Amino acid sequence: MSPTPLVSRRLFLRQTLAFSAASALTGALTGCDSLKIPVAGTDASHMLMLGDWGADGAHTDQNRVAAAMQAYVKSGNLNTQALMMLGDSFYGTLGSVNSPRWSEQFEQMYPSAVFNCPAYSIPGNHDYIYDDQALRFNVELAYAAIGKSRWTMPSRFYRYTFPVVNPVLTVIALDSNIPYADGSTQSGAFTTMSDAQRKAQLAWLTEELAKPLTTPFLALAGHHPLYSDGPHGDNARLIQDWDALLRKYNVHLYLAGHDHDLQHLEFEGHPTSFFCSGSGGAGLYALTKQETERGPYAQETFGFSHLEATAKLLTLRHVDSTGTVVHAFTKSPENKVEILT
Ligand SMILES: [Fe+2]
Repeated sequence: MSPTPLVSRRLFLRQTLAFSAASALTGALTGCDSLKIPVAGTDASHMLMLGDWGADGAHTDQNRVAAAMQAYVKSGNLNTQALMMLGDSFYGTLGSVNSPRWSEQFEQMYPSAVFNCPAYSIPGNHDYIYDDQALRFNVELAYAAIGKSRWTMPSRFYRYTFPVVNPVLTVIALDSNIPYADGSTQSGAFTTMSDAQRKAQLAWLTEELAKPLTTPFLALAGHHPLYSDGPHGDNARLIQDWDALLRKYNVHLYLAGHDHDLQHLEFEGHPTSFFCSGSGGAGLYALTKQETERGPYAQETFGFSHLEATAKLLTLRHVDSTGTVVHAFTKSPENKVEILT
């Protein structure tokens, strides 16, 4: 059963609220400033995130989102220190590490002249498809292993800190392609990891979370959301495996894609903000829950997301393909959330 949404109606966010729950959330409009592209601060680090981006065919919408990302960075004079690619990296057929799609839809689409930083990647369900007998994520791992690209994918799951120098955020990047509810590992063209691999990853995750945290903030990232207002809905198996760990270790953020929209969900007493950025290029999905029912934010729109980090505050923004900041909030190390717009 889904936990209780902390805010059931977006209208409530237009008032200042205070909760005694461990995850306190306040809502206050701060005026038009929060809608503007941020200007680079001296001590802030910047990461752009997007999911479900490597569209098949003409990839017009991917072009549009990528152009908006570049314009956003240039307008704010932001020094982007990481890209977080939230899975479903290539739809259709990829082939090998020599596919022209690497250049066209990654290297040139998000050019190093603008994004001179690692592009951390995790596998989505579209990366769990066989291309010429090879599982696509194995090609993606091989492309990273060549070492000549910003494409960073050392394993199906791994840990990194952001930014590289003086990090303030630990990200545990996960493979969310666990077996289906009936235990099967194949559904149509999609395959999953085995149950033994699921257990091995869970053991690794538990060990990683038990290590002392060296940064004020902690995020988990997986392609599939645990909770989603989109058509894929809540993922009971991931909730079963990971939700108690999110709570136990006061994880600040869970970053996902998979549903082709932009979302930010909060739940009463839950320390984690659930953040979905799944509209980087593939066709949009209609929401099945509206933000008035479970929010504070869910919108069917193309776009990307921006994480601005200091040691004292995370600021997260969803940005649509016109470059407009459509939702923004801050999160403190103590898990206090403030909605900016
Ligand atoms: Fe997906």
